[in-house]
Amino acid sequence: MLVDERKCSVHGITISEVQAQEFASRVPEARGSVADAQKLALDPNRDTADVAIMLESLTHMPRPDLVLRGLRPHVGRLLIRDHVARGEVGFTNPDWNMRFPSRVEIREQIKEGGFRLKHEEALEIPWETSAGYWLENIRRAFPVFRPEGQFKTLQRLCEQIIHRGPPEVEIMMFVAE
Ligand SMILES: C[S@@+](CC[C@H](N)C(=O)[O-])C[C@H]1O[C@@H](n2cnc3c(N)ncnc32)[C@H](O)[C@@H]1O
Repeated sequence: MLVDERKCSVHGITISEVQAQEFASRVPEARGSVADAQKLALDPNRDTADVAIMLESLTHMPRPDLVLRGLRPHVGRLLIRDHVARGEVGFTNPDWNMRFPSRVEIREQIKEGGFRLKHEEALEIPWETSAGYWLENIRRAFPVFRPEGQFKTLQRLCEQIIHRGPPEVEIMMFVAE
């Protein structure tokens, strides 16, 4: 969408080789890099951007502070959409290898990264509906055997959401400059 509809010049960064290959085949006009965002070595001349967009990725990284500080000199604006703990205190889910900060914590991370928060909002995402679609896709992809690895984890998560209700996180968007 950013390339086709908005004519943006896009640089996608992911730690996954497979995802980068998929990205390159779907969006050949964009630049792609396989890198750990916590150790970005960006070129001050080539690697500048109006906006850095992080969609549901920061919570997968143990050192979000390093990511944000690494990006700060290179980007004008930061948009984060991610899962945030509902209560006052953030928590780690070791099964998914994810850390969910509270609203207070993520505001602090953004500030410590050198950004000034301009806007935040909770997005009303119906978890049960999404989980139903994900589960359907998993069942279609694994019609006979039950999946292993990441798909097994996702399947378990979806079943929990459907049977026990949404997890203790909400999806929020933060815009900072
Ligand atoms: C849940 S997926 C979200 C993918 C995509 N942004 C979306 O919204 O569909 C998490 C993403 O974070 C990326 N990721 C996790 N840890 C990373 C790291 N240390 N450096 C760069 N990317 C990372 C993964 O490669 C994956 O693309």
